[in-house]
Amino acid sequence: MTRTLETDRPIVLIGLMGVGKTTVGRRLAKALGLKFRDADEEVERAAGRSVSEIFDDFGEAAFRDGERKVIARLLDEPPMVIALGGGAFVDPETRARIKEKGVSVWLQADVDTLVKRVSRRDTRPLLRDQDPHSVLQRLLEARTPAYAEADIHVDASAGSHQTTLDLIMQALEAREAEA
Ligand code: S3P
Repeated sequence: MTRTLETDRPIVLIGLMGVGKTTVGRRLAKALGLKFRDADEEVERAAGRSVSEIFDDFGEAAFRDGERKVIARLLDEPPMVIALGGGAFVDPETRARIKEKGVSVWLQADVDTLVKRVSRRDTRPLLRDQDPHSVLQRLLEARTPAYAEADIHVDASAGSHQTTLDLIMQALEAREAEA
């Protein structure tokens, strides 16, 4: 079902690895009748390599440069739903651009939930050969001040992706009613 929400700005999903940004983002885009883009996939397409290969071949700094450019480009396209990689919103330039042009939604979950979800895929270079719980705990602490600047905060830990989607829709509708 396509909702009647006016979406004149891109909706940008942020939050840690494993929280469900891509899955929820796809569903949100469908519900709103908007295009969906995953920033990691766009970086991979532009580089012709996977995120892991970019980290291995060029280093994290090069990945972050590519990520910044890709997100800047997506924000200038007609409004869509964009799922960011977990580190992207920490970049001050990207954060400023999203504040100016988009609506940011922080999907939050506790570390135990994230650990369960990231264990389903091993494509994330920051978790390779590391204890996922300690990495995610450290990243959550380091990134919370940046993530907290998001326009909307949604609890994505307990419920299904559908519940998360409903919470986002409610928050977007509330924002629109206030505007
Ligand atoms: C990263 C998260 C990943 C990907 C890269 C770095 C991070 O995206 O961008 O591996 O710094 O948290 P997801 O959050 O989609 O897993």
